[in-house]
Amino acid sequence: MTSSLLGTAYLAAGVLFIMSLKGLSHPETARRGNLFGAIGMVLAVLAVAVQVGLGSAPLILGTVLVAGVIGAVLAARVQMTSMPQLVAILHSFVGAAAVLVGISNHLHSGVPLTGAELTIHEIETFVGVFIGALTFTGSIIAWGKLQGVIHSKPLLLPGRHLINLGLVLVSVWLGVVFVGGGASALPALLGVTAIAGVVGVLLVMAIGGADMPVVVSMLNSYSGWAASAAGFMLSNDLLIITGALVGSSGAILSYIMCKAMNRSFLSVILGGFGAEEGAAPAGGAAIAGEMIATTAEEVVESLKEAGSVIIVPGYGMAVAQAQHPVREIVEILRKRKVQVRFAIHPVAGRLPGHMNVLLAEANLPYDIVLEMDEINEDFAGTDVVLVIGANDIVNPSALDDPASPIAGMPVLPAWEAESCIVFKRGRGAGYAGVENPLFFKPRTRMLYGDAKASVEAILRLLQQA
Ligand code: TAP
Repeated sequence: MTSSLLGTAYLAAGVLFIMSLKGLSHPETARRGNLFGAIGMVLAVLAVAVQVGLGSAPLILGTVLVAGVIGAVLAARVQMTSMPQLVAILHSFVGAAAVLVGISNHLHSGVPLTGAELTIHEIETFVGVFIGALTFTGSIIAWGKLQGVIHSKPLLLPGRHLINLGLVLVSVWLGVVFVGGGASALPALLGVTAIAGVVGVLLVMAIGGADMPVVVSMLNSYSGWAASAAGFMLSNDLLIITGALVGSSGAILSYIMCKAMNRSFLSVILGGFGAEEGAAPAGGAAIAGEMIATTAEEVVESLKEAGSVIIVPGYGMAVAQAQHPVREIVEILRKRKVQVRFAIHPVAGRLPGHMNVLLAEANLPYDIVLEMDEINEDFAGTDVVLVIGANDIVNPSALDDPASPIAGMPVLPAWEAESCIVFKRGRGAGYAGVENPLFFKPRTRMLYGDAKASVEAILRLLQQA
């Protein structure tokens, strides 16, 4: 392929990736965005295949085919609620790839470079390996926390900031040794791989459950920078552009998440920043009052009398896959002239936009799906709030208990409505592991059971009423 044709293919793929990101920013255009991304990726893979002559390299072609099949099967099988784990593990692959590219690039440098060019190349390799190793281990820990294999409580080692600083300083020294070249260069590169791996583990272990949304987007960003670094090492413009797009969009998402949770980015990535060393993170004051159970019949009675209803969906709704019967309830209520709206918290569920995706899948109209800022003031004048499988995002201790691990996070004030019905299976805590005083408030009633079964029971009664 001539270099101008290759350049054009790369440019087209880059533009398609940008159009994809733009499309993904809204549920209505997300499908189109996905399609642009997929076309861009096919174009990019074809261009690289032609450039390096994949047809003549059966080993590479075989690997690409086997990996493609594994990826397709995994993507088809994964449950929506397990997506964050899949994304985390895929980030770890990008990190591992950057490390391997860096080491092999050092061992088999194709183009002989000298002077400043060589120094720049060595720095690119070293930084790429550092970010790659950090992304690799950090993503594996994030996978473990999201999968529930590793406890979501933050691990706050005494003096952890000093330990991290020490490790970074040793890495800088190894960087100087590596750039100096000679026999010590390879051990320095392997040394920084190990150290960055430890930094990745320490950083993500120190981050508590409620701050995990930022970790997911931050590792997304790191994986982009790792890919970009690999692009520099391989002198591949498209990899540089694609990595930078992922890196910067992940960084923007991390910023949005931090803002939504009222956290500073630094306090999240340093983990438990500002918290007492060794303090029990799932603490919080003992809650007065009792949890009062209700029945589907009683809920239907309140819905029949309601003029306005707000539905707060959470992770439990995704687990139960209750969105379709919820849509049917919404249709019945709207036909009866009840004002029904959804309140979406930015960190509801386990993925940015998780609830929007579920509601879009159930074909709910977008104009009744409102962001937290758009609807928070309306809870006070609302007759009934249905909290379906949500917990942390409606926890008042975030606002009034400074000792709570979620203190300072804005939440949806479900307790301000005339009545609040909470759909959940039992007394299980939310992701942050904190008790929820909302459940003990006098106007709250608990509808115990799987969210889908409860919603379907209400739907049947409403259809008969
Ligand atoms: P959670 O706080 O995780 O609460 C979900 C609740 O749903 C649980 O209390 C559980 O109680 C209930 N539940 C689970 N399965 C259910 C089922 N089948 N039927 C009915 N109820 C069920 O969810 P949330 O309020 O959506 O908050 C999200 C949390 O996840 C936040 O802490 C957030 O920081 C964190 N997080 C978010 C993200 C992103 S990007 N969104 C990423 C990682 C972590 P029972 O067990 O008693 O049923």
